[in-house]
Amino acid sequence: MSDRPRMTTSAGAPVPDNQNSQTAGPRGPVLLQDYQLIEKLAHQNRERIPERVVHAKGWGAHGTLTITGDISRYTRAKALQPGARTPLIARFSTVAGELGAADAERDVRGFALKFYTDEGNWDLVGNNTPVFFVRDPLKFPDFIHTQKRHPRTNLRSKTAMWDFWSQSPESLHQITILFSDRGLPVAPMFMNGYGSHTFSLWNDQGERFWVKFHFKTMQGHKHYTNAEAEKIVGESRETYQEELFGTIERGEYPRWKMQVQIMPEADAEKTSYNPFDLTKVWPHAEYPPIDVGVLELDRNADNYFAEIEQVAFSPSNVVPGIGFSPDKMLQARVFSYADAHRYRLGTHYEALPVNAPKVPVHHYHKDGAMRFFPNNPNPDAYYEPNSFGGPVEDKSVQEPPLKISGDADRYNHREGNDDYGQPRALWELFDEGQKQRLYDNYAAAMEGVPDEIIERQLMHFGRIHPDYADGVRQARARLAGKAKDSISDGESSPAAAE
Ligand code: NDP
Ligand code: HEM
Repeated sequence: MSDRPRMTTSAGAPVPDNQNSQTAGPRGPVLLQDYQLIEKLAHQNRERIPERVVHAKGWGAHGTLTITGDISRYTRAKALQPGARTPLIARFSTVAGELGAADAERDVRGFALKFYTDEGNWDLVGNNTPVFFVRDPLKFPDFIHTQKRHPRTNLRSKTAMWDFWSQSPESLHQITILFSDRGLPVAPMFMNGYGSHTFSLWNDQGERFWVKFHFKTMQGHKHYTNAEAEKIVGESRETYQEELFGTIERGEYPRWKMQVQIMPEADAEKTSYNPFDLTKVWPHAEYPPIDVGVLELDRNADNYFAEIEQVAFSPSNVVPGIGFSPDKMLQARVFSYADAHRYRLGTHYEALPVNAPKVPVHHYHKDGAMRFFPNNPNPDAYYEPNSFGGPVEDKSVQEPPLKISGDADRYNHREGNDDYGQPRALWELFDEGQKQRLYDNYAAAMEGVPDEIIERQLMHFGRIHPDYADGVRQARARLAGKAKDSISDGESSPAAAE
């Protein structure tokens, strides 16, 4: 025998032959007792787990957050103190595509971070955009259905997308970003990341501050036009994986500058917009970004499945000094992610190495799938309170109280909310070339959608600015003209995705 390790079954018994099944005679049927064959086939059948219901296609790596600034007066979080270095894992993703989707598709990108802090895991599960399509979580499943496949055709439906958006003007800010240049980054390191929601920071004096987290790319922004992306996807569907993995493998480590915007707790009553509305940003002029540190990715996963597919990010994971806010969307996400993980990965998914905190974990959850971790040191301490030295609560890490008032009701979130001002501010930042590409991208995405839906959407664009709506109208006319020309030239017309 060579000095290579001896192959075994998963029960550890040596394997005599991994080339030939056990059969009755050389031509005969296989024997049921060939457990090794059965085990191999059975394992293969279980190699897939449910893909994430959204953000299924992703790319990730390990790295570090280094704090270079000083925000210690706002938060007691150890990971945010000057000089702190915290290991992390990042996963980037597209939202709508399935596990095998092409990378270079126009879509919002997920920007999820798990910081393994000395006080437990802190997850920031954000996007490459500072805002979102909806502001009430009741609309999230409907919105996602319009992005996924039509139940009958099993195709993505442009009609469903525009039908929903044109009846949900709170989406205007996000779609202006999605159809702008930044809606199709070249690779994860060429885009910003945003915590998007308003979170809170709190300090040892019991003071609370509202906070927005930003991660600014230090590689510069790079994006594809639709035409470039079509060509790229034709050549490779895996460009993000190739770029991110390759860059890190070559020792060129991507970096992001971490910034926060801080709002004193009482200011939330004074701003002209609801600071907990996920469709709004806080203007930089009012709440200037403060440099906090640098995030660097410097290590690829050794096993994509174990580390990137099984990683479980949840906005519910906060640590002392960092908290939630009244943002309704955030509140729903605090529930939704851990629920998804129990279904997608199993009850004790947090015991998987990639999800396990790097600090001792002491809880009283008991049995269930994946219960392989040990008991508390004293096995009699398996409930709480107990008299056997089991772990106890620590009141010193309790967040300061938050005053909340109001009558329970279903408040119309579209009433008294300006859905047009901030998209207008963004559109005004675009130069003429950016505006034209925005209009062209819309026109392409609207092909084949019924006129009454388009008109409803154009009405909203017109409320942002009449030139915005006119730009899209003209781009649609140009596209229709091109399609007519190509038909009269004898070419076949492009198949609509409807
Ligand atoms: P500022 O001029 O101070 O900031 C403009 C921001 O817009 C910068 O953060 C810039 O990001 C970002 N930006 C530039 N081009 C695009 C684009 N195509 N898609 C998305 N973001 C882009 O303005 P305000 O703070 O007053 O905000 C004006 C508008 O800028 C907002 O309505 C919002 O749409 C957008 N914005 C604002 C952010 C905020 O937190 N205030 C964050 C991101 C966007 P970068 O610095 O990386 O170039
Ligand atoms: C993934 C729900 C809004 C960013 C997911 C998953 C669920 C979910 C169930 C799959 C989780 C998993 O299986 O691991 C929701 C709900 C939302 C919402 C219910 C609103 C009510 C948002 C918003 C953002 C966001 C606003 C960004 C600001 C992400 C990211 C992932 C994700 C980045 C992928 C995380 C990863 O890489 O594993 N979402 N989501 N989601 N969501 Fe959301």
